[in-house]
Amino acid sequence: MRAPRRSVILAILAMASVAGCRVKTPGRFETTAVQWTKHHVTVGNRAERNPLPATAENIDDGKKTFGYYCVSCHGRDAQNTGVPFAAQISPPIPSLASAQVQSYSDGQLKWVIDNGIFPSGMPASKGTLGDEEVWKMILFIRHLPPAGSLGDPKAYSGDEYGSDDSGKSKSE
Ligand code: HEC
Repeated sequence: MRAPRRSVILAILAMASVAGCRVKTPGRFETTAVQWTKHHVTVGNRAERNPLPATAENIDDGKKTFGYYCVSCHGRDAQNTGVPFAAQISPPIPSLASAQVQSYSDGQLKWVIDNGIFPSGMPASKGTLGDEEVWKMILFIRHLPPAGSLGDPKAYSGDEYGSDDSGKSKSE
């Protein structure tokens, strides 16, 4: 009895999210419904705890991994600073400091990072990043610096080809 009901709900939500692809930003209903579904249905692993302690070293390691694997979409600060297309992707890239993201459990964040979010631009990192690297990144995500405090990703600095006007930043 339960399975068909769940699939009907998922089908409706899938339709809502496909409809959302045509518009620039998802509507409020769609956003709320999709967020609810992710937090309660699709994103698993709620109970798993982060096995690593939040030492300064572990957080810094997490920041470094984030800086080579996630920076192009989430920015150095995980708050989209300097990422020119963050708001244009559908769904848009959320600030990882937002309540929407921080309200996931550590285990759920691990699930999101391992599996990615389909269908969206958020890639799966299982097979590329090891468990320890991911847990350290989660420590970084739980201890984010103030927005903008780490500067722009190098690739978006206008200095990709080593031009001399590196002082010119594309972010506002
Ligand atoms: C190619 C661009 C891209 C890269 C690279 C990327 N992400 Fe994302 N990320 C996204 C998009 C787009 C979303 C929004 C997904 C959604 O809401 O469905 C997202 C969402 C998230 C979320 C929030 C999920 C939610 O349900 O709100 C977390 C956490 C996250 N990313 C972490 C990471 C980490 C950690 C990395 C590096 C290992 C990473 N991302 C790499 C594009 C990217």
